[in-house]
Amino acid sequence: MPDIRKLSHAEALDLIPALTDVLGDCIEDNASVGFMPPFTQDQGAAFWRGVADAVGRGEVLLYGAFVDAELVGTVQIGFALKPNQPHRADLMKLLVHRKARGRGLSTALMKAAEAGAAEAGRSLLVLDTAKGELAERIYEKLGWQRSGEIPDYALYPDGRFCDTVIFYKRLV
Ligand SMILES: CC(C)(COP(=O)(O)OP(=O)(O)OC[C@H]1O[C@@H](n2cnc3c(N)ncnc32)[C@H](O)[C@@H]1OP(=O)(O)O)[C@@H](O)C(=O)NCCC(=O)NCCS
Repeated sequence: MPDIRKLSHAEALDLIPALTDVLGDCIEDNASVGFMPPFTQDQGAAFWRGVADAVGRGEVLLYGAFVDAELVGTVQIGFALKPNQPHRADLMKLLVHRKARGRGLSTALMKAAEAGAAEAGRSLLVLDTAKGELAERIYEKLGWQRSGEIPDYALYPDGRFCDTVIFYKRLV
């Protein structure tokens, strides 16, 4: 059974170096996850400090996947903050370090995040992901509905354009 845990504000702060390592590894693997090379430790630390603070404010659920007590994967649920979207949340930053892939960690992270969102009373989840990548297949397999594609939405770390696919999932 994969070891998946929801991280507190303090745990998230403690784990900033490991979270940065996972994000950096995915960028090195050319995943389109918001950053371009050169990706620095400072950039990573600033990003994860922001996420940890959002966890502290109750705006984000942050999950970690651990192998032998080392954090090697992560995912987030970001609660929609608009007063007219109290039922909605975004699934963000599903990342698994290359050294831990192919063991079911992303699937376990997704299930934990969906369960956490449902427990928090959210009934509609939305995400976007790079078209043609493995994650797209994972979301489809987990019952997410494809709602459309946007061409040239972002860049891959190598500078090529990246189309994005928007998915949603109803939890009830
Ligand atoms: C996408 C990603 C999270 C998958 O993580 P993972 O922990 O290796 O995924 P899992 O082990 O849970 O595998 C999920 C499915 O993909 C399949 N899979 C895993 N690696 C694969 C590979 N290299 N080739 C083909 N299929 C693969 C698994 O067999 C599994 O399918 P199954 O449920 O039918 O057995 C990981 O590759 C990653 O971090 N990529 C870079 C970041 C990224 O693109 N994130 C998505 C942002 S939206």
